[in-house]
Amino acid sequence: MSNAAEPTIYQAIGGDPALAAVVDDLYARILRDPELCGFFAGASMPRLKGRQVDFFAAALGGPQPYQGASMREVHRGKGICQEHFDLVAGHLAAALTDAGVTDDTVGQILAAITPLASQIVSMKPAGQLAAGQEPR
Ligand code: HEM
Repeated sequence: MSNAAEPTIYQAIGGDPALAAVVDDLYARILRDPELCGFFAGASMPRLKGRQVDFFAAALGGPQPYQGASMREVHRGKGICQEHFDLVAGHLAAALTDAGVTDDTVGQILAAITPLASQIVSMKPAGQLAAGQEPR
């Protein structure tokens, strides 16, 4: 629930326009990162950025529920390790900070996003399955 006294994180950072700018910067950082850019080689970036804005908006208390596929489905079989996830989370934190988001709020956003690793990460660095995970 949100009210005037307690805005959602989505409202506090400036809604969709602010998220669109952060997501643009996030993917610029990801595509410059040699550990990450290969994952996005065949991706339609405009579509992906739009989806990412919608996803973050919903995750941070925005007005629309996310309508896309689950994070597990979308990232299945891509061979993403915890290390890759942590790199993306680090780029997200940097993009938010550069956009003027306060450290407190960046911390809250990271706290909301980091539990998604259990749905997105499917590989150990050595290429083995993570404990208890089925091949995807
Ligand atoms: C902060 C955690 C993450 C979130 C919230 C997230 C969210 C998303 C969303 C919303 C999509 C679009 C889904 C769709 O097209 O229906 C997507 C696609 C994708 N994500 Fe992530 N993601 C995260 C982490 C990662 C990581 C760590 C990697 C790999 C290093 C990754 C690689 C990809 C790839 C390759 C696609 C598909 C691109 C395409 O072919 O269209 N994601 N992600």
